[in-house]
Amino acid sequence: MTGELSAARDLLAQAARVVVFTGAGVSAESGMPTFRGAGGLWKSFRAEDLATPGAFARDPRLVWEWYGWRRGIVASCRPNLAHVALGRWMLLREGITLVTQNVDDLHERGAEEAARASLHEGRLPGGADSQVAARAPYVPDVATAGEAAARVAPIRLHGSICHARCMRCEARAPFPGPVDATSVATLPHCACGGLLRPDVVWFGESLPEGALQAAFAAAATAEVCLVVGTTGAVYPAAAVVHETRGAGGKVIVVDPGETAYDDVADVRLWGAAGEVVPALVAEG
Ligand code: OAD
Repeated sequence: MTGELSAARDLLAQAARVVVFTGAGVSAESGMPTFRGAGGLWKSFRAEDLATPGAFARDPRLVWEWYGWRRGIVASCRPNLAHVALGRWMLLREGITLVTQNVDDLHERGAEEAARASLHEGRLPGGADSQVAARAPYVPDVATAGEAAARVAPIRLHGSICHARCMRCEARAPFPGPVDATSVATLPHCACGGLLRPDVVWFGESLPEGALQAAFAAAATAEVCLVVGTTGAVYPAAAVVHETRGAGGKVIVVDPGETAYDDVADVRLWGAAGEVVPALVAEG
């Protein structure tokens, strides 16, 4: 074990309260594209055409087409070893608050995989499941995979691509199905007749107030903020890390590339989440 890894493990072992702050990089090994850097979504697409209220008002069909494509990627992805290890760690330990900028549901599904492996239910033969199961042993006190997902449910600063919200009555609901973006008429609509939109935060919109407050409250009292896979470029979410640091807490950063936190990290672990995170949070 490297000196940095063992220093980070010590910090986490000594902390009663930890905030885990994740970005697109934690899902990269699952096959989810990140936003910045080589292959990042904002290299191929213009945010102002696809991820703003104005873009949706101008062309809801185009916006839904893009989100439908991204929803398809999410649906086809599996949680990776980082999601599973974090999920299992949260099921085993008190005092961890997960805050994510991601709109996918891979953290919840990672906890489900950890619980399933433990419960010996629903495991598929071969492939990723077996690999995950081998690395995710017994989780006590979890009766079902669904309960595991609920227990690790992250504070979502940028919403959820798996949920939709009505433009007219504001009702929010899980929205699992495929999207038919052939025309505005075929786009998803609410029972009230209003057009649904993806329940994500677009550029120019405020973050959900409750989520933001909960994230900052947790960050202010955390002894350690564990940052995984984010450039730290988008505010106010990025300030969660500074909140912990400003209150005297430590910062651990896991990322294979440069981030805005590199100068303030107490421990910097250069590497992929799927490699580093399981080693960081495993017992023993
Ligand atoms: P970015 O695309 O800005 O950053 C992704 C980070 O993940 C980079 O630092 C990469 O080095 C790192 N990374 C890549 N592969 C990794 C791996 N295998 N393990 C760990 N890290 C890896 O994504 P975010 O910082 O999440 O906002 O972006 C923040 C926000 O900008 C997003 O939530 C989104 C976007 O515009 C909204 O849509 C409102």
